[in-house]
Amino acid sequence: MPMQRANKEKLVFRSYIRVRPVTEEDIGDIYQIAASVGKGAKDSNQGFLVDDYASDQGHYMDKFLTLSRRLEHFYVAENVAAPGKGHVVGFLIAYTREQWLEDNPEWIDEVKWHPNFDAERLNDFVVIDKTAIRAHLTGHGIGSELYKRLIADIRPKGINTMMAETIISPVPNFASLAFRKKQNYFLAGVRYEPYLGEMYTDLIYYKDISEF
Ligand SMILES: CC(C)(COP(=O)(O)OP(=O)(O)OC[C@H]1O[C@@H](n2cnc3c(N)ncnc32)[C@H](O)[C@@H]1OP(=O)(O)O)[C@@H](O)C(=O)NCCC(=O)NCCS
Repeated sequence: MPMQRANKEKLVFRSYIRVRPVTEEDIGDIYQIAASVGKGAKDSNQGFLVDDYASDQGHYMDKFLTLSRRLEHFYVAENVAAPGKGHVVGFLIAYTREQWLEDNPEWIDEVKWHPNFDAERLNDFVVIDKTAIRAHLTGHGIGSELYKRLIADIRPKGINTMMAETIISPVPNFASLAFRKKQNYFLAGVRYEPYLGEMYTDLIYYKDISEF
């Protein structure tokens, strides 16, 4: 397909995407999307979620439901041109500083912060824990729309810093790294995390949103 036509189609598709806060009715779709990119085998180029969602559907559905009731920055993207089954095409889960440290009390101490990272930023931030787009719809701008909505909601609260982790070992998430680069994130630090008998390496990225 010629590049111009492909870009135009992307733009048209993007105009059908609406981002809104999650509801309990979305949990089934969210589970399906997570399972489509969170499998046993990890695909570096497509991107992946670390957990294997098919391994325990009930557990993960409960987890999403609990988070949907607790977090104010849990969003879904829907395709309004295709109402009905499959219209939810992606989701984003973000935590405020208090919520994140409640679940991960050692996090600030566990991260090896980059010497150039301004520690003042740790006074107030939002952490994007998970973003996932239906596997066949990645690269159409849905992730960017979800991030735009998050920024629009947290800026009025005076929060200037967004943070996110990207796995680089044992399997690198190249899609996530490319996304961070495109979205102008900077390296904040690195963290090692034991998980299911392996040592995972996460890069911590931050983005200054004070200009938005
Ligand atoms: C990472 C992810 C959330 C990005 O969302 P998305 O809707 O695909 O991203 P966008 O279409 O808004 O892309 C924005 C930019 O990110 C980069 N990007 C996104 N996916 C990419 C991929 N698979 N490979 C390379 N670059 C990619 C591109 O630079 C793209 O810009 P371009 O369209 O001008 O080339 C999505 O690919 C995804 O859900 N992957 C699987 C799960 C995952 O890896 N989540 C992140 C870890 S929590």
